[in-house]
Amino acid sequence: MKRSDILFRLLEEDESRLDQLWAEADRVRKERVGDEVHLRGLIELSNYCRRDCLYCGIRASRRIERYRMSEDEVMDSARLAVRLEYGTVVLQSGEDHGLTRDFITRLVRRIKTETGLAVTLSLGERSLDELAEWRAAGAERYLLKHETSDPDLFRRIHPDCGTEVSDRIALLKAAKEMGYEAGSGVMVGIPGQSYESLARDIMLFRDLDLEMIGCGPFVPHPQTPLGQAVIPSEPRAGARFLDSSDSLEMTERGESRNLSAGSQVPATDLMTTKVVALTRLVCPEANIPSTTALATVNKEHGRELGLTRGANVWMPNLTPLKYRALYEIYPGKATVIDTAEQFHQNLLATLAALGRRAGKGPGGRRSPRVGRD
Ligand code: 5AD
Repeated sequence: MKRSDILFRLLEEDESRLDQLWAEADRVRKERVGDEVHLRGLIELSNYCRRDCLYCGIRASRRIERYRMSEDEVMDSARLAVRLEYGTVVLQSGEDHGLTRDFITRLVRRIKTETGLAVTLSLGERSLDELAEWRAAGAERYLLKHETSDPDLFRRIHPDCGTEVSDRIALLKAAKEMGYEAGSGVMVGIPGQSYESLARDIMLFRDLDLEMIGCGPFVPHPQTPLGQAVIPSEPRAGARFLDSSDSLEMTERGESRNLSAGSQVPATDLMTTKVVALTRLVCPEANIPSTTALATVNKEHGRELGLTRGANVWMPNLTPLKYRALYEIYPGKATVIDTAEQFHQNLLATLAALGRRAGKGPGGRRSPRVGRD
């Protein structure tokens, strides 16, 4: 698929053509990655963060209660993942240098030797040395969302730390070189995000040959600068117009859209599932989660919508209940706090109703994994 086709389908509003998109994405998902839904137990290790991202509820400048889990607490959560038969744990945190290189190395080694689970790290922009050491300790995957491929927008919502310049794409490439499976993703509907840049995001997923791609809607957090931004519903002032190849493509199809490629992308469940479905078509073998953010904007059906429109991964939360509410990257994320066991029962029922089943084993994209170390 060319970028102009992706753009065209992102702008699609016709119900029957959207139904075709969902059916196509679901068929490709079934053919290429099957009916198994891989379960990744999410452990939110720490809500300390050195970054001050304009969209995020745990940004450094917010005065909130901070926590960092102990090694034993993390191991308890990992053992819970084993009991629930999850194949993977995801260690996620703010960008917290209090989680030292040695601490993470020890933790990865313990999880590997004591549980055998696959380990995914999602600890922000850490040094290449740290990434290499954690890979050598046994971590298989690294997640780092690039959030948007529009460099100006990224810089605006994600201020650099001092003189260090962020380059998440370079970090993802380096992680792959080290033998990690690499994951990225975007937020859909960031204020200032155009359809054109969202189409580029999806092309970038393919160009980076990512193993994992997670996309959720932007959920405004009222206590953050971006949560207070007014999002225009009409094409924003100064919006860029279609470049010539895009307009040519659209004219050839003899159809028009109310929106232009430069319009503001809405942060809705519909737009997010368009991104999920198109991502499945462009990266047919990727592991694609139905995200918590999607389930947050559509509490009743969000999870199922993702799973029936291309997604094949679910990341249930295994963070101890006492910390859950403190990891509030966006509001509404943890309003219904079920224990992991309660949640698991609902999850199995949801999967059964969809005719899907929980995946067994680590559920990596390439198996067996061939590392380089
Ligand atoms: N809305 C939606 N997603 C958010 N994230 C952080 N803040 C928000 C928000 N306000 C997402 C980012 C980040 C992931 C851990 O959570 O995509 O990478």
